[in-house]
Amino acid sequence: MNPNKKKMTVPDFKKFKAEGRKFTFVTAYDYTMASIINDSETEVILVGDSMAMVVLGRNSTVGVTVDDIIHHTAPVVLGAPQTFVIGDMPFGSYNVSVAQAIESANRILMETNCDAVKLEGGKDMAPAVESMVKAGISVVGHIGLTPQTSVSFGGFKVQGKRAEAARQLLDEAAALEDAGCFAIVLEAIPAPLAAAITARVSVPTIGIGAGADCDGQVLVLHDMLGLYSEFTPRFVKRYAELGTLMEQAVRDYAEEVRSGAFPTPAHSFSMDEEERARLEDRLRETE
Ligand code: KIV
Repeated sequence: MNPNKKKMTVPDFKKFKAEGRKFTFVTAYDYTMASIINDSETEVILVGDSMAMVVLGRNSTVGVTVDDIIHHTAPVVLGAPQTFVIGDMPFGSYNVSVAQAIESANRILMETNCDAVKLEGGKDMAPAVESMVKAGISVVGHIGLTPQTSVSFGGFKVQGKRAEAARQLLDEAAALEDAGCFAIVLEAIPAPLAAAITARVSVPTIGIGAGADCDGQVLVLHDMLGLYSEFTPRFVKRYAELGTLMEQAVRDYAEEVRSGAFPTPAHSFSMDEEERARLEDRLRETE
């Protein structure tokens, strides 16, 4: 636990923005990682559908289910009691109807005890967001590069590079704000566009590959810790190379097991001399 940390609330998001306080999100998908993050100053954990790639080994985020999100979000909430936790809404859990979106979000919130949900999409999702918010659900939006539907725009590509597309993203952000999102993730868009959106919406923008002017930043934990190397977007900064450290540790362990250097008496349990002698008697009797 972090003695100086107080869990954020939804109203704090706007307050932080008004005060010009930057805040940080990282992703996490299990109890142990969540408790390490909880001990840091990071305010928010997103249990992202990025788990599809960095935890489940798939090549896209499509295919993660509400059950998967629940399975991973519940232990994160237990591991991070001082951290605001957002459960991601997976592809197919909110694109059928507004009622489906509310039902999926209800399940994620009720079965995990997380604080909010996130969904991808702008104007088209505004009616769903509005109804979810009316139903008492706190919703984070996500525009720009939206991995769940990236096939339709040709893969993981920077969005809003041309003035017309940039203009449209400004409108998408405004629509999400009007619908009641309390924060908006901006993924892989030019920094000047992210700055313009950030200046025009009253809710915080959380950037990932969107430059330094967003109100906060988010990174996928496995990317920033060097745990996932199959695909590293340009916007990722690696703060550690834990994958290399882990590989070396497992090699050292295997080598020591083979050589007999591990385990030592310090890693073993001893036995009373008297009990040991009795055991040896018993073994002799059965020989
Ligand atoms: O799923 C995820 O991790 C995300 C972040 C990249 C914002 O949506």
